[in-house]
Amino acid sequence: MPRLGNSEFRYGLVAILMHWSMAVVLIALILLGVYMVALPDVGFNTTKIELILWHKQLGILAFILVGARTAWRSANTLPTLSPQIPAWQQFAARFVHLVLYALMFALPATGWMMSSAAGIPVTFFGLFTLPDYITRDEWLFQAFIKVHRWFAYSLILLLVLHASAALAHHFWFRDDTLKRMLPATEDGCKDYENPGMANGEASQH
Ligand code: HEM
Repeated sequence: MPRLGNSEFRYGLVAILMHWSMAVVLIALILLGVYMVALPDVGFNTTKIELILWHKQLGILAFILVGARTAWRSANTLPTLSPQIPAWQQFAARFVHLVLYALMFALPATGWMMSSAAGIPVTFFGLFTLPDYITRDEWLFQAFIKVHRWFAYSLILLLVLHASAALAHHFWFRDDTLKRMLPATEDGCKDYENPGMANGEASQH
């Protein structure tokens, strides 16, 4: 039976599922966002409006997921980074994770505020409607569009950095960084008994 919670050396099943489901949702939101804003605003073509509606609902799903993920992260042990990783890289990794969390909250929040300022309530797949905390205001609406866009571009940049670092650790440095975020396998990261070692090899830098 796979371990649900984190250990000192690797992530548990719940954190792994939340990490990869959020990766899928965030990539879908970015692709959808970039595509839909590029569509022309033509009178009778409702495709753009429908895609924006999907983007908003998916964005609220990301909001719910990041809330649950933060709660789970705070209630759990946070696995330590491999001691082979130099101190500056450990600091950089933790810093990037922190900014990623901040953006994962800030993007749905600015999207929601943008809709409020436009006077369009946000519904979530017919289950509930979010309250409008700000009154209709064209200037604020335009300001939130810009802030949302720059937050989205920053998220893209950090996700590329984060994924590249994970791949570099796996294929270049050949350590357990990526394996710790994948379900444990027989020949995989034997973390509990043997932290920092994979397949009997010591991690190297
Ligand atoms: C983590 C969650 C989210 C991500 C990653 C995300 C990402 C994006 C991206 C990449 C764009 C295109 C930016 C551009 O090129 O101009 C965009 C636009 C947009 N987003 Fe989001 N978004 C998120 C959540 C939300 C939410 C929750 C809402 C509303 C409830 C929302 C509403 C919008 C709207 C209305 C636009 C179009 C703005 C315009 O007309 O230029 N987004 N989003």
